[in-house]
Amino acid sequence: MLLVRGVVDGLTRVLEPWSSLYRNNPAVQTTLTFLHLAGIFLGGGFAIATDRETFIAMAARISGQIRHLQHLHTVHRPVMLGLVIAISSGFLLFLADIETFARSWVFWVKMTLLALLLTNGYLLSRTETALRQGEQPDSPVLWARLRYISGASIALWLTLILAGTLLRSA
Ligand code: HEM
Repeated sequence: MLLVRGVVDGLTRVLEPWSSLYRNNPAVQTTLTFLHLAGIFLGGGFAIATDRETFIAMAARISGQIRHLQHLHTVHRPVMLGLVIAISSGFLLFLADIETFARSWVFWVKMTLLALLLTNGYLLSRTETALRQGEQPDSPVLWARLRYISGASIALWLTLILAGTLLRSA
């Protein structure tokens, strides 16, 4: 506990130039908040819209399912781009007031949710590849897994947004 406190205090001192730049500069605050929200909209928007289409594709014919799998494959890139923007801007927001956020349980719950979202995304990509490149693109077992992962993705994006909002108002 003492070690963690020492690390946080040391980092707070080292990061003082960045903290004071952020604190005293509304343009920096606005830009970072914009980037954080833009990344969330880009990544979460594409992800949630595609998760919804997965539910619809489950009831489609095999040709519709194959088309959806190809679409799913092309959506990884904009989702990753949104995540990279949201994570890097979020990291800079964290560094601007490390003393407050490192001690906040909401922040660590949010990081746990982020780890779960990234793991879920990895599983989604693996399941999609298995369906797209496998011999049975309508495999009921894999489609059931895809549906479960898509539901978890929607829930994780929304709870992450809730945790972020709580963090700002805490
Ligand atoms: C997909 C990932 C993420 C989502 C959905 C998300 C969501 C949010 C939301 C909705 C807000 C409130 C914004 C506002 O009210 O203007 C927020 C704020 C914040 N986020 Fe994130 N966030 C994500 C990733 C991260 C990461 C990786 C970090 C840090 C390493 C982070 C650190 C922060 C901090 C420190 C704030 C509060 C800023 C302040 O109070 O000034 N976020 N986040």
